[in-house]
Amino acid sequence: METQVQGITLHYEEHGQGLAIVFVHAFPLNSQMWNPQISALAPDFRLIIPDLRGFGTSEVPAGPYTMEIFADDLAALLDQLEISQAVICGLSMGGYIAFAFLRRHAERVRALVLADTRATADIEPARVTREANAQLAETHGARAIADQMLVSLLTTDASQELRAHVRSIIEHNNPNGIAGALRGMALRSDSTELFSQIKVPTLLLVGDQDSLTPPSEMQSMREAIAHSDMIVIPGAGHISNLENPTAFNVALRDFLRRL
Ligand code: MLT
Repeated sequence: METQVQGITLHYEEHGQGLAIVFVHAFPLNSQMWNPQISALAPDFRLIIPDLRGFGTSEVPAGPYTMEIFADDLAALLDQLEISQAVICGLSMGGYIAFAFLRRHAERVRALVLADTRATADIEPARVTREANAQLAETHGARAIADQMLVSLLTTDASQELRAHVRSIIEHNNPNGIAGALRGMALRSDSTELFSQIKVPTLLLVGDQDSLTPPSEMQSMREAIAHSDMIVIPGAGHISNLENPTAFNVALRDFLRRL
């Protein structure tokens, strides 16, 4: 489905009924990464799964896309759907956006699911790499970004089929959207000061072999956020919902049922 938010056209999927859950995708993927969650959760929950601006079939306006712009897009989408409160479930960049959403729209957060993410901002060398990668996307396209990132998104045990699927999702994204998100991520602020203000139930999920946001980093978040639980997803790398959807879905469903 498509709707207008903040002057742009946003594509989103909607499945099921009940408590609303907004699934916020990782970089440089799109809403399709959440497909394994749909059949497992849609009978009992209302899943809202947007393509963030610049990704999938959403509009690709000029960047940079700050985490605040992404978060305000989500709030505007909830307005359109007349949803006052939702569970925000973000993986990696989706988690950065969940923090921005919490900062700006805390009253709309029923609960949080933070998967394979971190709260810290980029340090300077990482910002420089982001800009280089933004230029790589602009000059060589999404395929160059897929070539570079695939190895760190999945474990070495991932099937060729899954690898090809993730590559295909990345390559279907617009290079200008990829560049806009890279420049936005470089601008994001540190969110660790939010930890003590999080009053809603929070679930932390992380692949046991996630090399980008490893379990040890997520564990520090768990210790700092009251009312948080952490579950390590076995046999999974950074995109844990895709690499072990069964374990991810069991953990998520169990958490949602207790809300
Ligand atoms: C992601 O999976 O969203 C990215 O790894 C986030 C990042 O590049 O910091």
